[in-house]
Amino acid sequence: LHNIPLFQELMEEDLVGIAPLFTVKKVNKGTILFKEGEVGEELYLIHSGVVKIYRLDEAKEVTLALFRDGDFFGEMSLLSNGMTRSATAETMAASTMYVLSRTAFTSFMEKSPRLCLKLLETTMQRLRHANDQIYDLTFLGVRSRIIKTILRLSEQHGISTPDGLLIDVKLTHQQLANLVGTVRESVTKVLQELLDDELILIDKKLITLRNIEAIQAEIR
Ligand code: CMP
Repeated sequence: LHNIPLFQELMEEDLVGIAPLFTVKKVNKGTILFKEGEVGEELYLIHSGVVKIYRLDEAKEVTLALFRDGDFFGEMSLLSNGMTRSATAETMAASTMYVLSRTAFTSFMEKSPRLCLKLLETTMQRLRHANDQIYDLTFLGVRSRIIKTILRLSEQHGISTPDGLLIDVKLTHQQLANLVGTVRESVTKVLQELLDDELILIDKKLITLRNIEAIQAEIR
């Protein structure tokens, strides 16, 4: 639990109290953990893996967040009285999760102001990000939005390699389009432009940013 940011500033005695209450869940890639509209009874913490949070229209999908090792999700329906899951959660890679029941989560929150503060801090970050999304969708063109999404993914999921910053999540053009709020064709076109300008590399659905400054300059 020490590696989960939500718990990082908690005292050892807090952790000792909560650790036995978690169950461990190992799941394959493509597993739906819960669906939008269901009653939420559990909080999830990712030990390892990638989870996509999304909402579906009949044929289309919008991806709200991609979470990975150390992130938590599923708190919204636990903390908004009587509300159901606000989105669907599905693994994008084999994943190991710690799962905490609603009762254990709420009773632990009542006992730990530090946990409440951490939770609020993360919620504020997510709200800021949602505000950015509203701004970007309102004011920016699709090319800038694609580039901003790639930059944001590199902050959240980036690992340094000799070629540059690699986004450590396999993404199809369609999946990237679902994150940006556009169509696959636009993603294909913009990625090709970035490849032609030698700003990125793509290998087996993994994108590497070769020159972050030059990519940032593209949206200024
Ligand atoms: P819950 O509503 O229980 O189930 C879906 C979860 O997805 C939700 O809790 C949050 O943990 C997460 N979630 C929903 N919307 C967003 C968002 N805009 N940004 C980040 N995470 C979200």
